[in-house]
Amino acid sequence: MAEAKKVREDALAVPRRRFEKVNEIIARHGKSASALIPILQEVQEEYRYLPEEILTYVAMVMDLPPSTVYGVATFYVQFSLEPKGKYVIKICDGTACHVRGSDPVKEAIRKRVGLKNEKHTTDDLRFTVETVSCLGACGLAPVVMINDQIYGQMTPDAINVILDKILEEEGDVK
Ligand code: FES
Repeated sequence: MAEAKKVREDALAVPRRRFEKVNEIIARHGKSASALIPILQEVQEEYRYLPEEILTYVAMVMDLPPSTVYGVATFYVQFSLEPKGKYVIKICDGTACHVRGSDPVKEAIRKRVGLKNEKHTTDDLRFTVETVSCLGACGLAPVVMINDQIYGQMTPDAINVILDKILEEEGDVK
């Protein structure tokens, strides 16, 4: 029994050092199953997505079946198993935004950040562009959200000004 515990401790030693930030998060929330969602939320804030190896590690440390942790991570739309950019741009394509011209705004964004085909995230992991169904600010349609900031009455020109400012702050004027 003690031997098995020792083997398990050894197996955890290297990842423990590697996932120091995750350990801090787990230590703050505790290891009860009810802490899993807040833990995953904080892990995602830290990494901007939920890397597979971290999900496995969280399961191991919390003594939960990996299928439980993966199940939660894939069930809630707030969680992403894909890497996301530093700037997550959500374009509303709900009815109000659509009829007031969200499509050209979306095209302008994708062009400005250099996204082609079906891709949602730029290769440099700076921008993720997503379409959502309603951002709850229909009176300001068409609406774009960049990280936590809402921008209303967007036009291709207006969004380009905002993106230019971000790119300038990033030291990258394209
Ligand atoms: S439809 Fe776009 S914010 Fe509601």
